[in-house]
Amino acid sequence: MRATEVVVTTSSPEETRLVGERVAGLLEPGDAVLLLGALGAGKTTFVQGVASGLGCPDEVTSPTFTLCQSHPGRLVLYHADLWRLERLQEVIDLALDEGLEEGGVLVVEWGEAAADLFGEDALVVHLDEGATESERLLAFEANGGGWERRLSSLS
Ligand SMILES: Nc1ncnc2c1ncn2[C@@H]1O[C@H](COP(=O)(O)OP(=O)(O)O)[C@@H](O)[C@H]1O
Ligand SMILES: [Mg+2]
Repeated sequence: MRATEVVVTTSSPEETRLVGERVAGLLEPGDAVLLLGALGAGKTTFVQGVASGLGCPDEVTSPTFTLCQSHPGRLVLYHADLWRLERLQEVIDLALDEGLEEGGVLVVEWGEAAADLFGEDALVVHLDEGATESERLLAFEANGGGWERRLSSLS
């Protein structure tokens, strides 16, 4: 494990939401968070926690048709789901950076598709199955932008 990595195990969707809430408390305007993990890994569940931690009153679901959904809160949360987007140009066309320039925060499901755009300055979260059906492993990786310092406060 790298020094910049923090691993958290959760035993329920509620716990994954709680971790999302904790991460929301670390978010600053212009931050990008990339979520990596298979279908059902808990990416949307995690974003629900982030939204709750940011005080967004909206119900958060996967923005499958819109690809990116904004939720006003303490900071505006831009929630993108890049499932099936493979070409970088398709991601560029979504102009996800505009919300960041306006002081919002961006959380991206299937974030590998956006890694070339935000990967150098982002919090990367790898979500994986755990030992049981209700367990998930969340591995947080700090990529630049002061995330190493902030991650240490998560552990
Ligand atoms: N510890 C856990 N954390 C998150 N989700 C869990 C957990 N245990 C079971 N689940 C279930 O796994 C599913 C995760 O779905 P979702 O968050 O939509 O995943 P994704 O967005 O990665 O496809 C939900 O049905 C949720 O109830
Ligand atoms: Mg999802």
